[in-house]
Amino acid sequence: MITRFEISNYRSCLNCSFDFQPHLSVLIGPNSSGKTNIMNALLLLRKLTEEEHYHSHEEEPTDKSKLKVLFKIGEKKAILTATVGTYTDEKNNDVVVSSRQLWYMKDFTGNAKRLNISLFLARSIDRPRMGKNELFYYRSGYYHYPVKMRKIHESAWKAIMTIARFISEMRYYSASQFTNPGKCPISFEIEEEGGKRRGLRLYGHAKFLYDLFGSFKANSNGYQQFFDIIGPSGIDLVQNIDFQEIVTSSVEYSVKSGGRVRKRTREKMLVIPRFTIGRHELSPNQLSEGTFKTITLLFYLVTEASSILLVEEPEVCVHHGLLSSIVELIKAYSLNKQIVLSTHSDFVLDQVSPANVYKVSSTPQQGTKVTHIPKSMSKRELAALKDYLQTEGNLGEYWKHGALES
Ligand SMILES: Nc1ncnc2c1ncn2[C@@H]1O[C@H](COP(=O)(O)OP(=O)(O)O)[C@@H](O)[C@H]1O
Ligand SMILES: [Mg+2]
Repeated sequence: MITRFEISNYRSCLNCSFDFQPHLSVLIGPNSSGKTNIMNALLLLRKLTEEEHYHSHEEEPTDKSKLKVLFKIGEKKAILTATVGTYTDEKNNDVVVSSRQLWYMKDFTGNAKRLNISLFLARSIDRPRMGKNELFYYRSGYYHYPVKMRKIHESAWKAIMTIARFISEMRYYSASQFTNPGKCPISFEIEEEGGKRRGLRLYGHAKFLYDLFGSFKANSNGYQQFFDIIGPSGIDLVQNIDFQEIVTSSVEYSVKSGGRVRKRTREKMLVIPRFTIGRHELSPNQLSEGTFKTITLLFYLVTEASSILLVEEPEVCVHHGLLSSIVELIKAYSLNKQIVLSTHSDFVLDQVSPANVYKVSSTPQQGTKVTHIPKSMSKRELAALKDYLQTEGNLGEYWKHGALES
């Protein structure tokens, strides 16, 4: 798990650091203080597991950001420093053009020498086939790159690969991804070939429906749990979810020289999701925004085998009764995966302990700064806060009255 994160020269995070909680870390702070930027900086790490970046694009001016991450594996720690060159595209997404990743693994190797191993390399290596001194891996699926490995301690290797897997399983959920269910398709198409199912051109809302369908078909434990939560035995948001499947096959012919004809049949399937709410059977585009967002959040919270989950503003469009169940679930799931939450809601804050809360603030000179609530207060202030929480109110009320802002 991540225990500390330092960000320099990344968007509004000029020089910002904080110590993560092992289970749940909650970021609060005004608009534009940099909560989303902190999450984006974490997601930048995930990008490093997905691709190798050798060259920098000369046309694009790049910013070099530095991320320092402290991981804990059992009782041992490992530190990664990544210098990442990026530019932002027209959708304000980061495009990584260069990176250099160095590991400090003294707890594993016994010395302070930095190891130059990229997260992508660690992710790509097929463990059982690891050679003795030389490893081969694919880049872009086409080229072999020999990588000379100096004698690297095996336990250091294992730790780096564990960390790379952990980071690659990072998931990000933001309510703004699922605004306007009206945009949601009422059916989608999948193709089956060689027993493998594939969604055709699916992203956003449709991707969610496809993921939901996959989980429904597999009837996995995760799906059962998810349905127990949102269904009649849980918060009773929907009474049933069902999918109608219509097989549509298409036949393709290809003609070989000599006139031989080859016939190929592709099985396609049209999938039509139906949600039962009260006495109505509804298409996903007929769900209310709050229902849709709650379903997507809970689905990804419960079913994703993610190691670390970033959740932005779970309160958006959800009424308070439901919100408190959602926060309780987030807390329960944070026992098994690290969760970072951002919120503007005093209701969310009501349900968490001050030890889990970080205040994010920003000034033009200093950029984004993060302070752990218990640390930002004197002993007396903290005692007063605890007293307040016990006798009168809750953290949310306290926040609303501005006491956390000073
Ligand atoms: N690509 C970027 N480069 C530099 N600054 C950015 C970039 N994108 C957003 N910002 C700025 O960073 C600040 C913090 O934004 P954000 O993290 O979205 O705040 P919050 O999520 O706390 O509301 C804002 O002032 C925003 O304009
Ligand atoms: Mg934000």
